[in-house]
Amino acid sequence: MLTGKDLVEEYRRTHPGSQRLHERAAKTFAANGATHIARVLDPFRPYITHAQGSRKWDIDGNEYIDYIMGHGALILGHSHPAVVQAVQEQMAKGVHYGGNHELEVELAELIKSMMPMAERVAFFSCGQEANMMAIRLGRIFTGRKKVLRFQENFHGWADELAHEGSAGVVADKVNVIPFNDLNKVEEELAKKEYAVLLTEGGGAYVNGRVPIDLDFVRALSDLTKKYGTVWVLDEVVTGFRDAPGGWQSVVDVKPDLTTLGKCVGGGLPVGALVGRADIMEVFNPESPPDRHIPHTGTWNASPLLCSAGIAACKLYQGGEPQKKARQLADYLRERGNKVLKERDISGRLYSRTVVHLYLGPIDYEPSDDTMPPTKDIKKIMDPTMEPVHTRLCLHLLQRGIAIFTKGFYILSAAHTMEDVDQTIDAFSDSLDAMLNEGTLGQALRVR
Ligand SMILES: Cc1ncc(COP(=O)(O)O)c(C=O)c1O
Repeated sequence: MLTGKDLVEEYRRTHPGSQRLHERAAKTFAANGATHIARVLDPFRPYITHAQGSRKWDIDGNEYIDYIMGHGALILGHSHPAVVQAVQEQMAKGVHYGGNHELEVELAELIKSMMPMAERVAFFSCGQEANMMAIRLGRIFTGRKKVLRFQENFHGWADELAHEGSAGVVADKVNVIPFNDLNKVEEELAKKEYAVLLTEGGGAYVNGRVPIDLDFVRALSDLTKKYGTVWVLDEVVTGFRDAPGGWQSVVDVKPDLTTLGKCVGGGLPVGALVGRADIMEVFNPESPPDRHIPHTGTWNASPLLCSAGIAACKLYQGGEPQKKARQLADYLRERGNKVLKERDISGRLYSRTVVHLYLGPIDYEPSDDTMPPTKDIKKIMDPTMEPVHTRLCLHLLQRGIAIFTKGFYILSAAHTMEDVDQTIDAFSDSLDAMLNEGTLGQALRVR
């Protein structure tokens, strides 16, 4: 069993190629050699050479069951044959026409067919661009400036989207309040100062690490209407991961605007803003100059992206990939929670197709494992648990399982029951090692 210092030594020994690349990268990329904060790990994350289905391989030939899944973009798994074929064919025909083309119309029509609130569609390069544009639209439509957002909701790194208090951010028109408190929302909206209420779909922080009360969400549409604020639902992760109609179809709500990204591009970079035709009229060049946004963006709806997006969205339409990912997530949670309980570890796997691991006090037993065993946001987001998650992540990597350092597992339709079984073996073995080496922490032992 790998424990203590041995783990890091063994990891370095089995990842010499990655170590070499990390040392090169550290001279160039200021984030300790990484190009995204989620790819930072001590000593380093593996350098990947190729991926297929649910698996990926590193430069040293180590194989991983992948639960990063393109940061949530790959609900079909790596290199789905339909997407690969579409992209290869399109590559030969042209990556960027700098002109209009049928594929952008087809992709937009596919989105509209799945999400009925999408009267109009606009494309961007990524999810946060769509969020930034949604705020601008709300401002023009309402003539107001302020943005209301909820704590722990994630929308991107740009000024008005970043976590409250992030260094260097200018967001003096943004107010961040706790969620699940309708009185507080109404108190703010009643001031009639807010252009936009921005809400993360699926709950806060990557598809519901902190769950949102569904009755609370369902009340937001009427409340925003009552006070003339545009309600923007950020479905960058959940559309079309949770269902063909997005999370909004699961909870039965209709926002004014929805932002999309990730899965919509089938693995290629995309952002989309969809919603009410009257609000999106600002893109019409015939709108009065003070109500018009000249929408630019080199990569908007590139033919290559659209070819991948069409192939993927055609598969999402029937709901099969989403169903399969959900069933596998159920199986992962069920087996993983047994492992935790058998070891008297105070923690639970929960949520939907992005499975989060909560480590901390069990305040109550939820009726099903879509919910964490506490309602206390501070406990769910407890920063003192981060070293424990990081250690578990390294143990899992050494055992061929790639997860996010913060402890969540993104399922896809390409995963199998066997993948989950193998993951559970590695999960239990890692937890045993951590119990042995004392890195799980006393607080996490029930007895
Ligand atoms: C809910 C949510 N919104 C927006 C974004 C930003 O999307 P992108 O990274 O494509 O800009 C993310 C990224 O993970 C996200 O999780």
